[in-house]
Amino acid sequence: MTIPVLTIDGPSGAGKGTVSRLVAKQLGWHYLDSGSIYRSLAIAVLQQSVDVNDVAEIVKIAQNLALEFECNDELTVKLNGEDITAQLGLESTGAVASVVAAVPQVRQVLLQKQKDFRQLPGLVADGRDMGTVVFPDAIHKVFLTASASQRAGRRYKQLKEKGIDANLSHITSEIEERDRRDRERETAPLAMASDALYIDSSDMGITAVIEEVLSLIR
Ligand code: C5P
Repeated sequence: MTIPVLTIDGPSGAGKGTVSRLVAKQLGWHYLDSGSIYRSLAIAVLQQSVDVNDVAEIVKIAQNLALEFECNDELTVKLNGEDITAQLGLESTGAVASVVAAVPQVRQVLLQKQKDFRQLPGLVADGRDMGTVVFPDAIHKVFLTASASQRAGRRYKQLKEKGIDANLSHITSEIEERDRRDRERETAPLAMASDALYIDSSDMGITAVIEEVLSLIR
């Protein structure tokens, strides 16, 4: 039996995380936040003070990445038993994640870890290459985006709500830089799958986006 997968790809800050989590909850399906895997690798690299250009060492860390995920209303991630959830959302973590994620061998090593999330009764997978590389046979695919200024504004609000100090113009330029790196890399770049539903959420509330995604499945 083929286990159903709904992939939600798109640039950072488009609301993929919130939409995916809530849709997974409504459907009673599992949830994969693939960005958190790359972010966890970035934290491990930073903790071990490894140079972000030292590919051999980063691949070794990726091979030994011991992660535990727990998703209730929020996602909790443990790295070697240590709760790293608070560090996951930092812009500095995202920036290093997008550098290590551009290394083809790293993507290869982390591929199976992501495929393992495909379990009954189904999976909602959120990322950049879920519909194109990791689950190309997914039956439902969405590409969720929004304007860069909207995405930066949402990120800013999220960080402020978490009590994290943030600067809007800094976030905007970091988002633009990360988008550029994710779109231009050679391996598994951020791109819309040809069979994906395109949703621009710039002028949509979260409920409308969730309704549109769910209508795809119903
Ligand atoms: O989605 P999130 O912002 O958490 O992802 C952090 C970084 O991880 C992205 O900027 C991207 O470089 C990388 N990533 C990726 N492929 C995915 C998910 C995330 O390359 N499927």
